[in-house]
Amino acid sequence: MWQDARNLSGWNTMRIHHTYLSRTPASRELGERAEAVMPAGETRAAGYHAPYPLTLVRGDGARVWDLDGNEYFDVICNYTSLVHGHNYAPIVEAATNAIRRGTAWPARNLHQVELAELLANRVASVDSVRFCNSGTEAGMLALQVARAATGRTKLLMARGGYHGSHEAFVAGGASAPAWEHTLTAKWGDAAGFEAVLTERGHEIAAVFLEGAPGGIGYAPPEFFTRVQAAASKAGAVFVLDEVITFRMSTGGYQKELGIRPDLTMFGKLIGGGFPVGAIGGRRDLMDLLDPRRGVFSHSGTFNGNPVTTAAGVVSVRELTPERIAIMAGQAEELDGRLKAAAAAAALDVTVRRIGSLLHITFNAASPDPEAARAVNEKNGLFHLAAMNRGVYLSARGLMSLSTVLTEADLDSIAERLGEAIGDVAAEAAE
Ligand SMILES: Cc1ncc(COP(=O)(O)O)c(C=O)c1O
Repeated sequence: MWQDARNLSGWNTMRIHHTYLSRTPASRELGERAEAVMPAGETRAAGYHAPYPLTLVRGDGARVWDLDGNEYFDVICNYTSLVHGHNYAPIVEAATNAIRRGTAWPARNLHQVELAELLANRVASVDSVRFCNSGTEAGMLALQVARAATGRTKLLMARGGYHGSHEAFVAGGASAPAWEHTLTAKWGDAAGFEAVLTERGHEIAAVFLEGAPGGIGYAPPEFFTRVQAAASKAGAVFVLDEVITFRMSTGGYQKELGIRPDLTMFGKLIGGGFPVGAIGGRRDLMDLLDPRRGVFSHSGTFNGNPVTTAAGVVSVRELTPERIAIMAGQAEELDGRLKAAAAAAALDVTVRRIGSLLHITFNAASPDPEAARAVNEKNGLFHLAAMNRGVYLSARGLMSLSTVLTEADLDSIAERLGEAIGDVAAEAAE
């Protein structure tokens, strides 16, 4: 039986819920089969939502299709990683050509050098790059480098922040067990970070910050500069997590913020849709990974995989300033239309935007990372209502636009999401 893991009370009487059930019987059936062999029938925490998630079978451009044949505009794009949408012809061509030549070798390949060059050329703080296979691994590797550089063990990060699913970085959420070496301070509170660094700086190897927690939490540039200055003063390595925010400019969000981190974490879009992670940064720190130095060993069977890096080169290269600006303009338009729909429905809705990322929550505004990641009852309802109206976004309301959205697509998405807000309002009034 399906359990309602997010405690969405009274589902069975709800119209939105019933519409979802009646549109998606094949997804439900496959979900029941999956549940026999995978916890909750899922394989990533963010994939699960009540009453059950869809099974997707195809993606093309800005759209995806589910097992029941329903079509959706995809405005989450695998949590920001598909910045050019699905099945993007230049990426398909690059990846297919790479596959034809073999999918993995235990030696350097041309594409990984090209991708490392692209990142180093685009991002001012990056002298050299090391690849791995996920953002999670990038966080673990950055921490290892910082520990080797400083001889210290602890890390400092924002409460409710996220730098991957290793226990070191799942800090401060209600269900997160505290890791013995993780210290936290409040996101956006520079004085709070400074206080921890003054008091315990001698124990801290690295300070990690996301550019925008949950893809959307905002803090002014001054927050980052103050935290970095305090980290440097304490002799700790400052790591900026650009796994999600690298899309903000060709030089990453760090260029917009005017900062130069010691190390940067990359993931998602730099793999062109394939599993990827990387760190890049100051040469003296990155050189700790040089096996000739014998400081510590970092290996990985699939690091810098030729298919991933061939796709990644195209993904990064084709993320041009013009396209970044177009996506941001489209997101701004969507932002305005969602706010107007929320006002018309007289619901307590917050819509926030940073570049081409948007977040809609059915509560009052809060920049807190934990709030950005929470799924409340109305958010859950809106998520289902949006899918009923043919728009696929994340359960917590994150949206990530892609370069392949047309103006007509955007207009249709805004209209459908406006209708979904209306559906939630109608249900709330019942
Ligand atoms: C800011 C941030 N850092 C790290 C990660 C971990 O990346 P991955 O899921 O590739 O392990 C994520 C994933 O969502 C993320 O959003």
